[in-house]
Amino acid sequence: MQRRFHSSRDFRKAITIEELHAIARRRLPAFALEYLEGGAEDEVTLRRNRQAFERIAFVPRTLSDVSKRDLSVEVFGKKLSLPIAIAPTGSSGLFAHRGDLALARAAAAFDIPFTQSTVSTLKLEAVAEGAVGGRHWMQLYMLKDRGVTEAIVARAAAAGCEALVLTTDTVVFGNREWDRRHYVRPGKLELSSKLEVLRHPRWIWDVLVPNGVPVFENILEFMPEKNANPVRTRAFLVQQMDPSITFKEIAWLKRVWPRKLVVKGVLDVEDARRLADAGADGIVVSNHGARQLDGSVSPMDVLPKIAEAIGSRLCIMVDGGFRRGTDIVKAIGLGAHLVLLGRATLYGLAAGGEEGVKHALSILREEIDRTVGLLGVTSLSECAGRLRPGSY
Ligand SMILES: Cc1cc2nc3c(=O)[nH]c(=O)nc-3n(C[C@H](O)[C@H](O)[C@H](O)COP(=O)(O)O)c2cc1C
Repeated sequence: MQRRFHSSRDFRKAITIEELHAIARRRLPAFALEYLEGGAEDEVTLRRNRQAFERIAFVPRTLSDVSKRDLSVEVFGKKLSLPIAIAPTGSSGLFAHRGDLALARAAAAFDIPFTQSTVSTLKLEAVAEGAVGGRHWMQLYMLKDRGVTEAIVARAAAAGCEALVLTTDTVVFGNREWDRRHYVRPGKLELSSKLEVLRHPRWIWDVLVPNGVPVFENILEFMPEKNANPVRTRAFLVQQMDPSITFKEIAWLKRVWPRKLVVKGVLDVEDARRLADAGADGIVVSNHGARQLDGSVSPMDVLPKIAEAIGSRLCIMVDGGFRRGTDIVKAIGLGAHLVLLGRATLYGLAAGGEEGVKHALSILREEIDRTVGLLGVTSLSECAGRLRPGSY
């Protein structure tokens, strides 16, 4: 049955992540919205990422005292109040003014890690200074110019980042047809898309008026002066992605990076095993939010096998399609130690800036807490036994 949907424009009234999504839809110009919500090609994997949750069923216990519930987990030897972190997302400044800082501050307020993208629109140092006390992780693309890569790694170390998250599933760029329709070339919008922007005066006021079109600030310093504009920085990045990387680069990163190393974009059990052998501290079981290979498996489909093979040899994180507290509890029950959120918190960001992200996180916190209670358990570690065997 089609249920009534909240149609308020006020993000504070949203009671689900999907309602924040609906507000984001109204606020953003088409090119930014499609960049946020879209998947590669026919979006088969985008749908699969959501459908995977429906195949998993809970078997709750009854008559067990659930008056005190603990939602905390331990990641890299430190406690987190919730089993979630914010995933790296590039160009967050397109969704709200200083979007990366808004995400980082909201994460710090909820005592969860924020992962900043290499292609964020604020410098990593600005986020480190602006979200003091937060757990700051830095995502890395391995660029052909290893000097640039190493300089970013050194800056992340100097800024105190706790973990480096190497993304390995974008060495060949996914086919995102929306980008091809909106852009003449990387960073340069089609005239029709520019005109459509004019229908979003509030977005123009919030995003464009303060600083103009957001740029990839982390890589600006590596560009010749004349190249430092949004079009050139995007073109530079596309051409710098290194498709030749192998496990050798993991060994190299272990030498140059002093703290926790996480590899994002793992879907195969053997790859997970090799990464554990290679000394990675964590993996993110991920298909990049269905933005790369259309038709690939959903992370939730492969998580149980990876968890079985890896156990606690490294921290198993997972992302892709998480929009509900029940989704998060299912992942923890199937062996993940932590869930990363991409679009869920970005919908909050687009709907209401930093407060919108906090609103998204409080919706999920409440949903996780309710799910644990309804399952008849008092902690996340007990959820494993409450999933129907063979339902995944
Ligand atoms: C708008 C957007 C930008 C993204 N940019 C990056 C990025 O720069 N680096 C990266 O490793 N992953 C990036 N991702 C993928 C996310 O880190 C994450 O894997 C994905 O969003 C999880 O799926 P979900 O959005 O359904 O939660 C991006 C995702 C989105 C939606």
